[in-house]
Amino acid sequence: MKNIILETIGLSKVYMQGDVKVTALDQVNIEIYANEITAVVGPSGCGKSTLLHLLSGMDRPTSGKVLLDGEDIYSLNDRMLTKLRSEVIGFIFQKFNLLPDLTVIENITLPADLSNIKYDREYLNYIIETLGLDERLDFFPRQLSGGQQQRVAIARALIKKPKIIFADEPTGNLDTKSGERFIEIMLDANKKLNLTFVIVTHNPDLALKSNRILSLQDGKVIDDKVV
Ligand SMILES: Nc1ncnc2c1ncn2[C@@H]1O[C@H](COP(=O)(O)OP(=O)(O)OP(=O)(O)O)[C@@H](O)[C@H]1O
Ligand SMILES: [Mg+2]
Repeated sequence: MKNIILETIGLSKVYMQGDVKVTALDQVNIEIYANEITAVVGPSGCGKSTLLHLLSGMDRPTSGKVLLDGEDIYSLNDRMLTKLRSEVIGFIFQKFNLLPDLTVIENITLPADLSNIKYDREYLNYIIETLGLDERLDFFPRQLSGGQQQRVAIARALIKKPKIIFADEPTGNLDTKSGERFIEIMLDANKKLNLTFVIVTHNPDLALKSNRILSLQDGKVIDDKVV
């Protein structure tokens, strides 16, 4: 019996582009299972990023619901939604979104500290070592390669031990080797820390390492396949 961690019911998002309505998501009904890696694929503009933003509480839907452990996250007020986002959800952005004036270690710990999230030193060290960042803790983002910057973004997401980590094209800006490293780290975090991942990707290697592939087209789910 699979444990549903996240579920959408009739989830829709309509954007206005000037006077034109663009339906980015059209009545999407999906279930995301706990401790699985779900890949979301589809052509450019099909609604992948929009879906990720709605699943992670970053944007409000036009209609429909997102249930996290059975609770409708958009019935929460903005303050509660922000709290949920900072405590329960990790997000790895395509452009990493590191703070340029903070060092590696500050980038990793500051968001957790600001949200009063407790983590122990041992766990922090474990993440830093697993990600091979131990030699780089006092560097600034501009002194790091793309792959290293991404590992800082992963560490920043992992430190909170979130229930779910979302990543939008996590290997999109990486060279082949760093991309493979990301996949290893994700599989490791999935197994050892029981983390659930939802990733948007164009990378077939990454999609094939996931447990499940959801295919979107024109804002609709057209295929749902166990890998
Ligand atoms: N903030 C916005 N305002 C207006 N339209 C938007 C906005 N964000 C997305 N859209 C439109 O919604 C549709 C889906 O966009 P979305 O970014 O979710 O696609 P995507 O699948 O992530 O594409 P890509 O693979 O290129 O990143 C597109 O037609 C896009 O133009
Ligand atoms: Mg996108």
